Amino acid sequence: MRIAICPGSFDPITLGHLNIIRRTSRIFDEVIVCVMKNASKTSPMFTVEERAAMVRKSVSKYPNVRVETPDGLLAEYAKNFPGAVVVKGLRAASDFDYEFQMNLINKKINPEMETMFLTSSEKYTFLSSSIVREIAKYGSDLTGLVPDEIKEEIAKKATEWRER
Ligand code: PNS
Repeated sequence: MRIAICPGSFDPITLGHLNIIRRTSRIFDEVIVCVMKNASKTSPMFTVEERAAMVRKSVSKYPNVRVETPDGLLAEYAKNFPGAVVVKGLRAASDFDYEFQMNLINKKINPEMETMFLTSSEKYTFLSSSIVREIAKYGSDLTGLVPDEIKEEIAKKATEWRER
């Protein structure tokens, strides 16, 4: 059975992420979406549990996709799934520089771990979680940026942030 691991901080999941997860689910038998901590992102908008709940709602229509919240290093987690492939989306050259570095670090920790990249769909090249957070904080509509199922939840959290 071919297993893919799609890691990310998903703060929150966007339609760009979902596009990568959906395409990965067509190639692999099983996809594990890992909602993880990114040490360089120190003040997330949502907790890991909130982010994972939003990802679960967004991927519920894909029967071979499940969501986990591993603590610790991705390369250590991947050791639990020998032969699994980490799949990530690439939007631009700037993503490549970061991902190339991550890949080298991960390989040092877990030499068996392979990473593959899917290029982002053209219509989502501009999209990121940070853009979604920014737009949400200004109270603007999130249609076409995030899955419909989680729009309200993000808007509600953004209102709480504004009133803090
Ligand atoms: O969506 P992101 O923020 O680009 O995803 C990055 C993420 C969460 C996949 C990456 O930071 C990660 O793998 N975090 C877990 C800890 C880890 O393994 N760090 C890399 C080695 S320093």
